[in-house]
Amino acid sequence: MRRQYRADGLLEQDLAADPLHQFARWFTDAERSGIDEPNAMVVSTADAEGRPSSRTVLLKAFDERGFVFYTNYGSRKARELEANPYVSLLFPWHPIARQVIVSGRAERTGRDETAAYFRSRPHGSRLGAWASDQSAPVASRAELEARYAELAARYPEGEGVPVPPFWGGFRVVPDAVEFWQGRQNRLHDRLRFVRTPEGWRVERLFP
Ligand SMILES: Cc1cc2nc3c(=O)[nH]c(=O)nc-3n(C[C@H](O)[C@H](O)[C@H](O)COP(=O)(O)O)c2cc1C
Repeated sequence: MRRQYRADGLLEQDLAADPLHQFARWFTDAERSGIDEPNAMVVSTADAEGRPSSRTVLLKAFDERGFVFYTNYGSRKARELEANPYVSLLFPWHPIARQVIVSGRAERTGRDETAAYFRSRPHGSRLGAWASDQSAPVASRAELEARYAELAARYPEGEGVPVPPFWGGFRVVPDAVEFWQGRQNRLHDRLRFVRTPEGWRVERLFP
């Protein structure tokens, strides 16, 4: 699979008309290749002073509006995004010698969209969202488990769990999306869609 993808390359004439459709094609390829969690992406943010930080999150939706993930709005990443909405997403699809890098601005998803996604999650994950002050220090593992047990007693399996007010989605609205395809002799293909007032412009970058 890897050798074949490398040989195929990524040429301008084969590119979709916009980054969403190109991403959809590559996402399908990544799923079919058997990559574990192809929707895992590295999200990089920076604080107001420009200090960067990165972590993995799961992509939960994408369409012409952007790329959506869910998290705790009190977490480090969320606080950084409130101060500085510029963000980078990186999909590290190593087994098929591909990488996609999205840069853009993050905005909160609407409460209806968040609620619809929250309700689709397993009961235990819903309780887990309530139990965690994500990114804050916790005294012990026991404290976390005690919080969870309390919630499990209050909301038994089958009972509706309200959406935590401190939890929800971010949609990353892309300004640029780069598609990287590994090729022989380090002569990789890098095609980048850049948003312009007239629409998407494609540029090729040296590898
Ligand atoms: C495979 C994988 C998937 C993850 N998915 C999410 C996710 O969808 N949302 C989330 O908030 N954290 C997710 N995490 C945990 C984050 O990497 C991170 O530890 C957490 O969000 C706190 O990050 P922060 O303190 O930088 O805000 C995931 C971690 C891994 C390894």
